[in-house]
Amino acid sequence: MTDTQDALRRALSFADDYGLQAPIILAPMPGATPVPLSVAVTSGGGMGSCGVLLMTPDQIKSWVLDMRASSNGTFQLNTWIPDPDPIRDQQHETEVRNFLGNWGPAVSETDVDVPLIDFPSQCEAMLEAGPAVISSIMGLYPPEFVARFKAKGIKWFAKATTVAEALQAERAGADVIVAQGMEAGGHKGAFNAADADKNMIGLFSLLPAVSNAVKVPVVASGGIGDPRGVAAALILGASAVEIGTGFLRSPEAKIPNAWADAIGEAEPEDTLVSRVFSGRLGRSIQTRYAMAATAQDTPKPAPYPIQRNLTKAMRDDAVKKNNLDGMQAWAGQSAKLASPISAEQIVMNLWEGAQKLL
Ligand SMILES: Cc1cc2nc3c(=O)[nH]c(=O)nc-3n(C[C@H](O)[C@H](O)[C@H](O)COP(=O)(O)O)c2cc1C
Repeated sequence: MTDTQDALRRALSFADDYGLQAPIILAPMPGATPVPLSVAVTSGGGMGSCGVLLMTPDQIKSWVLDMRASSNGTFQLNTWIPDPDPIRDQQHETEVRNFLGNWGPAVSETDVDVPLIDFPSQCEAMLEAGPAVISSIMGLYPPEFVARFKAKGIKWFAKATTVAEALQAERAGADVIVAQGMEAGGHKGAFNAADADKNMIGLFSLLPAVSNAVKVPVVASGGIGDPRGVAAALILGASAVEIGTGFLRSPEAKIPNAWADAIGEAEPEDTLVSRVFSGRLGRSIQTRYAMAATAQDTPKPAPYPIQRNLTKAMRDDAVKKNNLDGMQAWAGQSAKLASPISAEQIVMNLWEGAQKLL
């Protein structure tokens, strides 16, 4: 069998296992994966997705109810594995608050202490909703939770950014590894927050290495935005692809216009990785704020999730005003390949085109 025949066979078998017509998965993107986007992706034959990080258990339940009312398609629910509690430094936080006051409304001390939504209760809500797939980023689910969702027949897709993380996830029982290259838009899924910028591995290196190292299927993620990228990922060992930025300009994603327009114009060199929005490393458009906040003489970002709380007022204000400069305008290095057409059409174009190449 040739490499291309093998790639096609692998992709079709994965699609069959998950009830898909196309081996294309919408990336989970908290705040940017509304139900209509997943409905459109499933109509095109792909897998829908919801990033539940910022959702309460009731909001998770209602997303799933709405999704099931509009689509019989497969979807995944995803959340972040919590980091250890951050080490606080009041004086440094004051410096960051003062700096952020130049970019948005004044940030008060109490804004900083907003807790994250409780992880165990999000896990319970996902389990109760019973999607086909629960996925993770930034680490591994606790073994008791893995055992409970496996008992319900739910599959676990674990995001990994190195071979070592992929092997750890496979040993912990992951059914699929989502190999995330450093081209990816949004947060980098490194298990150890402090080390996230040390291993910046491109998908062309990560994918064959992870595919050779693990026995479970591998999904490719990061910088895939056209049929060539889909076909290349499958040839390099993937069974499917997970795409984020490539769906963000579709009307169903409903992100602010300034962000969608910036994605449509960004060359690969127009994005950067930084911790300036949340304290966790992520790739965004090089906005004026992102540039200023990463400058040498600017106070370094606070750890996650403190920096997320510190920047909330600026980000909310920017969304209200459609002002790109204060938004966390996440984007991968292939941003410019994203089309402003329906997500259903995006999935169909990607898969038809990739099949022709294979
Ligand atoms: C706006 C945005 C939010 C994201 N949030 C999450 C998340 O909460 N969980 C997760 O597993 N991945 C998240 N990601 C990463 C994606 O799952 C995926 O790895 C990435 O989008 C792939 O790169 P691409 O954007 O170049 O397609 C996010 C990506 C974006 C663009």
